[in-house]
Amino acid sequence: MDNTLIVFASNHGAVEKCARELFRVMDGKVDICNLNRREFTPDLSKYDSIIIGGSIHYGKIQKVIADFSIKNRDLLVSKHLGLFISCLFSGEKAQQQLDNAYPDELNRHAAVRDYFGGEVNIKKLRFWERIITNQMIENEDLVVKLSKEKIHRFAETLKASYADKK
Ligand SMILES: Cc1cc2nc3c(=O)[nH]c(=O)nc-3n(C[C@H](O)[C@H](O)[C@H](O)COP(=O)(O)O)c2cc1C
Repeated sequence: MDNTLIVFASNHGAVEKCARELFRVMDGKVDICNLNRREFTPDLSKYDSIIIGGSIHYGKIQKVIADFSIKNRDLLVSKHLGLFISCLFSGEKAQQQLDNAYPDELNRHAAVRDYFGGEVNIKKLRFWERIITNQMIENEDLVVKLSKEKIHRFAETLKASYADKK
């Protein structure tokens, strides 16, 4: 890989963990940008590959990620693209949340898209968030876990498709 930008938003740290793991395993020059902290406004044109990641709350990705994806859609479709989400659901429901998280053009264009599972930091949640999350986990029998395997597979798929394109 030549150079990659990882853009993410994380409410309580799970997406940040995924982004940092991707940062660790991607080849070449890698920059990482937390949109919530606005560490810098990335010049997307400088990058060959862009990875975007966010988490799902009440069925939706963070607004800052949705706005970023829509605002930069035309530029993003000219890049080597990877899209991910962190969420607690798996299977069809997670796939549906992933489909809804990003604009159709980006979903069609992406070389790799996946959901990595999720984590819950109970101490950081508000009272109501704690109740809702616990209910969701119990009612749906959800497994609270981030999948390092999926993160690594995502990185390998992105690298391989980049190599194929070159
Ligand atoms: C209030 C609340 C609502 C959530 N809603 C959903 C949801 O609709 N679907 C889902 O799969 N996960 C849901 N989750 C789980 C989060 O997506 C998961 O904990 C994720 O790892 C959070 O990542 P972050 O801490 O980086 O933001 C919810 C979590 C909270 C706290």
